[in-house]
Amino acid sequence: MRLVSPHIRYKEEIVKYREEFTASGEQMHGGVGLHQSESIEHWLRMVKDHLRESTVHPGRVPNSVFLALDEHDHLVGMINIRHRLNEYYEKYGGHIGYGVRPSERKKGFATQMLALALKEAVNLGLDKVLITCSTTNIGSAKTILNNGGIFENEVFDPHDRTMTQRYWITLK
Ligand SMILES: CC(C)(COP(=O)(O)OP(=O)(O)OC[C@H]1O[C@@H](n2cnc3c(N)ncnc32)[C@H](O)[C@@H]1OP(=O)(O)O)[C@@H](O)C(=O)NCCC(=O)NCCS
Repeated sequence: MRLVSPHIRYKEEIVKYREEFTASGEQMHGGVGLHQSESIEHWLRMVKDHLRESTVHPGRVPNSVFLALDEHDHLVGMINIRHRLNEYYEKYGGHIGYGVRPSERKKGFATQMLALALKEAVNLGLDKVLITCSTTNIGSAKTILNNGGIFENEVFDPHDRTMTQRYWITLK
């Protein structure tokens, strides 16, 4: 598995990835608006805008999205690293969001994706990351624990009305 920055050369895989989520009716995590985007080209422009403080869209924090490709360059998941926290991310959202396409779950991909993303987080200058998940999301909690997550607390997120667990991973 490897993480790559989104690029038009992966368009076909991105289109199929999005179609799988549309068919499943599931919300996409880690794809920063891919599901709602009018086209892949539009999404790629937005992903680029989000890389820098000077161009990130209002209300967002700068962030880096990565495509997770398996050894056949099949797109299995997406992971997004926020370069800094704002009030919402500090309390509920954390630094890193991720998702694996429904057909590729329970094969260890999220665990591998997060491990690779932690290296990218070091490159972005972070020394510790906050990662959160809903209390009922056992797969995500295990993904965080598999990567050395230390549980801090559980809080009620009024935005999606769920209990959210907050974990920290120290880098370096
Ligand atoms: C959560 C999610 C990312 C896990 O992806 P994945 O590739 O299936 O995760 P992994 O294969 O690395 O599994 C990690 C561990 O969780 C377990 N697990 C995965 N899904 C599980 C589930 N639905 N129920 C119970 N355990 C689960 C795995 O068996 C594995 O356990 P192990 O470490 O003891 O072997 C994936 O289910 C997903 O995309 N869900 C929707 C989006 C989401 O919830 N994102 C996270 C937001 S916080």
